[in-house]
Amino acid sequence: MFSTKFIEKLKHAQKVAVLTGAGISAESGVPTFRGEDGLWNKFRPEELANFNAFQKNPKLVWEWYNYRRKLIHEVKPNPGHFALAEMEQMFPVFTLITQNVDNLHRVAGSQIIIELHGNIMRNRCVDCNKIYREIDIEFESSVPVCRCGGLMRPDVVWFGEMLPEDAILCAFQAAQECEVFLSVGTSALVQPAASLPIEAHASGAFVVEINVERTAISRYIDESIIGKSGEILPLLINKIKEK
Ligand code: OAD
Repeated sequence: MFSTKFIEKLKHAQKVAVLTGAGISAESGVPTFRGEDGLWNKFRPEELANFNAFQKNPKLVWEWYNYRRKLIHEVKPNPGHFALAEMEQMFPVFTLITQNVDNLHRVAGSQIIIELHGNIMRNRCVDCNKIYREIDIEFESSVPVCRCGGLMRPDVVWFGEMLPEDAILCAFQAAQECEVFLSVGTSALVQPAASLPIEAHASGAFVVEINVERTAISRYIDESIIGKSGEILPLLINKIKEK
């Protein structure tokens, strides 16, 4: 399953970077966006995940995020998340970059996480940008309002919005500097995240993806390992621990 070259590279690597997508949380029961059971087959992103939609119908957008928050409250990290938290301790420099907003990497114990698309557990005032972390969103029937009077929105990146500048800069830097880059559970279709493995490869890193199927980037990288990340990542850790 793992090539000798990959394991040797990983065993000797000083700098490792990992990009995760919705697939890493699939085994926890969080639906992915694309594919047969993907969220975007059942819901329309243009009605739910952009600022115009929020302005037009904030209650609908708020309900959609409450539905997803509730779901996320009910799930737990899986062995894939735990394996990445363990990997953070195994390399001198380890950068975990995620497109997920589900907070499960943090719950699993990862300490430094670049969240490219924000975090669903955090909210932000659309007027004054004040961040709210602890409000009891689950039981809100209407859209919460900030002390300044502005509406509160989830602190996530919607279609048409810029990614947090610091996050994307750090992510590209990690991709350019790492020796091994893993792309885990992402369809690699959404930019700019999808460029990270390609950038890493162009900068000389050994790039491997772990996914249940081949993706848009498979042919541009070094290896594709087909399987569930919750099964493959723990095996990978055992392999690199072997003498
Ligand atoms: P997608 O739904 O596009 O892709 C999920 C990927 O996970 C697919 O390639 C699946 O084959 C793979 N997968 C499913 N189960 C898996 C498992 N158990 N182990 C490994 N891989 C598995 O999700 P993302 O690539 O994360 O953006 O989507 C990127 C962005 O598109 C999201 O962050 C979101 C969405 O629109 C925003 O909301 C801004």
